[in-house]
Amino acid sequence: MKKGILKTVLATALVGIMAFSVVGCSNKSEATVDKIKKSGKLVIGTSADYAPYEFHKSINGKDTIVGFDIEIAKAIAKKLGVEVEISDMKFDGLVAALKTNKVDLVISGMNPTEDRKKSVDFSKIYYTATQYVLVRSEDKAKYSSLDSLAGKAIGVQKGSVQEKLAEEQIKDSKLQSLAKVPDVVLSLKNKKVEAAVVEGPVAKLYAEKSDGLAVSDSKFDLNPDEQGSAIAVAKGSEDLLKIINEALDELIKEKKIDQLVIDATNSVD
Ligand code: ARG
Repeated sequence: MKKGILKTVLATALVGIMAFSVVGCSNKSEATVDKIKKSGKLVIGTSADYAPYEFHKSINGKDTIVGFDIEIAKAIAKKLGVEVEISDMKFDGLVAALKTNKVDLVISGMNPTEDRKKSVDFSKIYYTATQYVLVRSEDKAKYSSLDSLAGKAIGVQKGSVQEKLAEEQIKDSKLQSLAKVPDVVLSLKNKKVEAAVVEGPVAKLYAEKSDGLAVSDSKFDLNPDEQGSAIAVAKGSEDLLKIINEALDELIKEKKIDQLVIDATNSVD
């Protein structure tokens, strides 16, 4: 008799838990898209220090955040029938902002690494870039390999893939991790570091636009699965992720992303 009651109680509890998790999950994803539509805005988290991905530009005297990531976010917002609202913050705070529901998605040239996948979900990859080493022009010949950088001070963005790469693949590197990429580059110019590890398109722009900087020939060994940029959402936001992937599919199919990258690159002052 007692055993029977226990069984019933256990079975009921189990069904309850299962039902709760199923409902819990689908509610979360519905709630995300619903909430966005109701609020009329898609709040995106980004670290606008990363031209041509996302950066500040003065347009008609007004400070505006632009870049190809922002254009992609607008395409997603259009699909949802809402406006984009940008929340600009330090790169290393973006994943936490998603987890605490401060933003609906993160688009910030972010690689879908295994480590981040433990806390957030990622869209498909929408753009692929490699990692470059930026040096002062006069050092380009001197620092032509990762070995030549052994033991040197290296500038990276805090919480970035570049930070990990420099740590793992430049022997005895003395990392200087800063919150914003322009400060990393300033540090290189001011000889506080010997090199900076930066994403390809960003590094190329700095080499082109600023006197005295060049891209070195040193190359990293990269894990192909983790290369490229993807959009992050809070875990379980399947409905939102579906819409994001559809928007990305359309942009990719129409070959629009490369054009957005070119346009954004050309719009840098
Ligand atoms: N791709 C690198 C990463 O995922 C760096 C991205 C930095 N993005 C930025 N907007 N600052 O870690």
